[in-house]
Amino acid sequence: MIGDTIWEFRSPRSKFGVGAFNELKFEIERIGCKKPFLITTKGWIKRGLLDRIREILGFDIPYWDGVEPEPSAESVEEGAKAFSQSDADCILAVGGGSALDTAKIVNLLATYGGTVRDYVAPPYGNGKPVPGPVKPMIAVPTTAGTGSEVTSVAVVTLKAENVKVGISSDYLRPTLALLDPELTLSVPPKITADTGMDALTHAVESYIAKPYWAREKPDDPSKRPVYVGSYPVTEALAEKAIELIGKYLRRAVYWGQTDIEARSGMLLASYLAGLSFGNSGVGLAHAASYPLGGRFKVSHGEAVGILLPAVLEYNAPANYQKAKRVGELLTGTNCPERTPEDCAKWAADEIRKLQKDIKFTPGLEAVGVVEEDLIEMAEETLKQKRLLATNPRPVDVEGVIWVYKRAMRNY
Ligand SMILES: [Fe+2]
Repeated sequence: MIGDTIWEFRSPRSKFGVGAFNELKFEIERIGCKKPFLITTKGWIKRGLLDRIREILGFDIPYWDGVEPEPSAESVEEGAKAFSQSDADCILAVGGGSALDTAKIVNLLATYGGTVRDYVAPPYGNGKPVPGPVKPMIAVPTTAGTGSEVTSVAVVTLKAENVKVGISSDYLRPTLALLDPELTLSVPPKITADTGMDALTHAVESYIAKPYWAREKPDDPSKRPVYVGSYPVTEALAEKAIELIGKYLRRAVYWGQTDIEARSGMLLASYLAGLSFGNSGVGLAHAASYPLGGRFKVSHGEAVGILLPAVLEYNAPANYQKAKRVGELLTGTNCPERTPEDCAKWAADEIRKLQKDIKFTPGLEAVGVVEEDLIEMAEETLKQKRLLATNPRPVDVEGVIWVYKRAMRNY
C-alpha cells in the first residue's frame, strides 16, 4: 500500500467577536443576499430575536421556528417547504447545532427537491449525492459545541428506525460562520457542560486521529475522502481548542451568564475544534455514541463525553506522545508520571476530573446502561465505518466493549 502524500484544508469565511452579530446587515449585503430567511428555535423567537434582527437590518424577514432538539426528518422537510414558499434568497440560521444542521438540509431540499431519505446512505436511504451548490447560508451558533457552523455535515433522526444519520457534502458548508460570544451567555449550565464536552471530544479525537499518510493514496483526487486524517493544521487547531477548554469550561459552567471571557474562549474552542475534525475526522467516541442515542435519553455531547476518557486510553498505544499531550494541554502542566502508559491514564483522569468539576453525567451506568446491552451496542458501533476510518487504533467488538465497561463510571 502507498500512503497518501497530500492533504487539503477546507473552511468557510469566518467572523468572530463580541458584537459580531451587529454586523449582520453588512455581511448579508456582502454575500449579495436581498432577503434572508431565518431558521431558528421557538426559544429564540420568544427571546426577541425578530426585533433584534429588525433593528440591525431595518426590515422584517420571513422565518421558520420549528427546529427540534434532535431534528427529525419530518421537521426538516417542513422547514424546507417554508423556505421554498418564501421568496428569500439566502438562509440565516441562529441556534445550537440542531438549528444549523436543520438549516443545511433545508437548504439542500429547497434547492434540489426530494426528501431527507434521498440523501441518506443505505440501508436507511437512497444515498443520492448532493448535486451541487445550495443557496448562501450564514451560520450563527448560540452554543459552544458542535462546530456545525464550519463543517459540511448535518445530522438528522429517522424516527421510524430511531437512528441518527448524517448527510455530508462540501456544498453544505455554510458560506459564513458568524460567531458572537454574547449570544451564548444565556445557555444554562447543563447544556454548557454537555456541549463543551462535545467540543472537547471533537478536539481530542481529531488530534489523535490516524495520520493522513497512514491512509491509502487514492488513484484519483476525486476519491480522496472528506475526512483525511490528522495533519499539522488540524493538530494545531485541536491543540489550541483543548487548551482553551481546559482554561474556560469550568468558568463557563459556573458563571456563564456574565463571564464573557470564558464564553468567548469556549466559542472559539468549539469553532477551532469544528475546523479541526471537519477536516481530519473523529473516531471511536463518536462511533460508539450512536447506539446510545437511540436507546437512552442522552444528548450527543453527553454520549461522546462519557466515552471520551476510555477512548483516549484505548487509543493511546497508537501514539502515547499525543495522549500525554492532551493532558498537558488541558491542565497547562507536565505529566507527573514516568511511563507512557501512566501518562495516558493521567490524561484521561484529567478529563474525568474536569467532568466531575462541571457535574457532567458521571458514566453510562447513570444513564441506564447495563452490561447485557453492551454486545449489541458494540456490534452496532462497528457499523459506523465512516467514523471509525480515522480512529488511530483498529477497533473490534472486544475493544468497544472494553471502552463501554470502562465508561460505566468516570467518577
Ligand atoms: Fe460531536
